[in-house]
Amino acid sequence: MFQLLATLLVFTRVLGTVNAAAQGTAVFPNTRRFMFDVNGNQIDAIGAKINYGKYYLYGNGAGGVNAYSSTDLVNWAHEGDLGYGGSRSHIIYNAASKKYVVWADGAGSAGYVVGTSTSPVSGYTAAGVAAVDANPTFQKADMAVEVIGDKAYLVYSTLNFQDPRAGSMWPAIYQTSHIVQLSDDYLSTTKTSYNVTSAAFDLIDQQVESPDIFYRAPYYYVSASNSCGLCSGTLSVLYRSKTIQGPWTRQILAGYSCNSQPEGILPLLDPATNQTTYLWHGNSVPGSALTSRGGHIFQPLQFNSDGSAQPLNCSDSARFEYESVCDSDSYNLYQTFPSSKSGTLKEIGINVASSSQTGAVSIKIVKFSTVEDFVAPGYKWTLLNSTIVTRAQTSTVFNVVSVELNAPVKEGDMIGISYGNYYSSGQFIAGGDAVPYCHLEYEVERNSTQVLFEQGAGQTSPRGDDGGASVVVRRQGRGLKFYAVVV
Ligand SMILES: *[C@@H]1O[C@H](CO)[C@@H](O)[C@H](O)[C@H]1NC(C)=O
Ligand SMILES: *[C@@H]1O[C@H](CO)[C@@H](O)[C@H](O)[C@H]1NC(C)=O
Ligand SMILES: *[C@@H]1O[C@H](CO)[C@@H](O)[C@H](O)[C@H]1NC(C)=O
Ligand SMILES: *[C@@H]1O[C@H](CO)[C@@H](O)[C@H](O)[C@H]1NC(C)=O
Ligand SMILES: *[C@@H]1O[C@H](CO)[C@@H](O)[C@H](O)[C@H]1NC(C)=O
Repeated sequence: MFQLLATLLVFTRVLGTVNAAAQGTAVFPNTRRFMFDVNGNQIDAIGAKINYGKYYLYGNGAGGVNAYSSTDLVNWAHEGDLGYGGSRSHIIYNAASKKYVVWADGAGSAGYVVGTSTSPVSGYTAAGVAAVDANPTFQKADMAVEVIGDKAYLVYSTLNFQDPRAGSMWPAIYQTSHIVQLSDDYLSTTKTSYNVTSAAFDLIDQQVESPDIFYRAPYYYVSASNSCGLCSGTLSVLYRSKTIQGPWTRQILAGYSCNSQPEGILPLLDPATNQTTYLWHGNSVPGSALTSRGGHIFQPLQFNSDGSAQPLNCSDSARFEYESVCDSDSYNLYQTFPSSKSGTLKEIGINVASSSQTGAVSIKIVKFSTVEDFVAPGYKWTLLNSTIVTRAQTSTVFNVVSVELNAPVKEGDMIGISYGNYYSSGQFIAGGDAVPYCHLEYEVERNSTQVLFEQGAGQTSPRGDDGGASVVVRRQGRGLKFYAVVV
């Protein structure tokens, strides 16, 4: 398995008022994956960038701009809605003013909206609109801000809707990327911007979005994607130049960005060696338009002696460890597992996402003796508790829905989670909703003691020539993502 270690620590340049990050080691396999916060809810942040101090991850979620914090890049706590900003909000810390400064989309061609706070995750107040060029012509789009040495920079893309070809069938839009230095307070710019384009100035240079900037001596680098819009694969481009004025040399890191859209680069300084790892971050669509596009992929960049970076490893085997499966219109599912210890079973939860369903979801927790009993026609189980989850209680994000319990269990006791559609009339029949709910599945060993069963839509009675065949059959090699708390 391809794994790279990056030792973590804060950037000394932006300690600010936040706590220094804990030292530790995080492993970044090149898998596409969902990320979850410490409560088990999906991290819902696209257009995200990880900042520093503690590590902060900000990005657009279903309801606003979500902020998460972590000391180790592994365990993330949801800090709530930033309460300010817009698309692709990005935050930098100004050591002189001791303020966090947020930059975000939302001012059209005029520039970007700017706000300040003394906290990295809340309390931002408006500080006006910052212009980025002397004669605003094109609409401002994706951007990032970054402190490099004693200066700060904005990299941004502009949408050219004035080109007579724009808006025709393909390409739909023209957008070029630019760089401008920020004022000392980081609330405005010098208004002298430079194009970040290669000598070719071809369609690749004219379809750039989601730019980010970092410095690795002796080059400034601008990482970007091509025009994409929540897609599952676009160019990952990397420009480098010794000055922000250019000329810029362009390379393509990956043709499809490992089925993602590049988000940005996080430099991680290892204080033991003073070596910096540059962690590339892409946002990956997990295979269904029904659910939040919140997949992530991280890969440390490897540099060559000429300053270019090696291609990303977009191996086919670098798959989502949890996959989005939307099939409650066709199946009820039953996840079974033995209790790993004796005690009181207090809670069981699964991750469910929705879009425009009309029906609800039913989750029941049962205890039973053997898998044979479980699939046998008849009631050879004990219901421990159940819950009905309505569409309004869920969202496009894979958040936890849980059932509270208070059931004594012994190690090895078999527990079952049933999950499927529900009608208000009280029926529990698969296929009750034309629009399926979505859950998360992962691959399990075929001999795992955790077995997932499925029951086809409307299949409620025994089958087979002797009437002895169960309609509940194994979903081989698959598991439903769940957790169970036994105390
Ligand atoms: C690329 O990643 C895959 C999957 O993680 C791994 O098996 C393979 O060895 C990696 N290739 C290189 C060149 O690192
Ligand atoms: C810089 O970008 C603008 C906006 O796309 C474009 O009109 C101009 O031709 C570019 N200049 C150069 C030198 O590439
Ligand atoms: C890392 O850089 C800092 C600041 O320049 C210096 O004080 C420290 O000794 C360096 N550490 C190592 C291991 O080189
Ligand atoms: C059953 O679940 C409901 C809702 O989660 C909860 O309020 C109730 O306390 C649970 N019953 C037991 C016995 O835990
Ligand atoms: C399951 O099978 C694999 C080989 O296919 C074996 O390595 C593993 O030990 C088995 N696990 C159990 C719990 O029997």
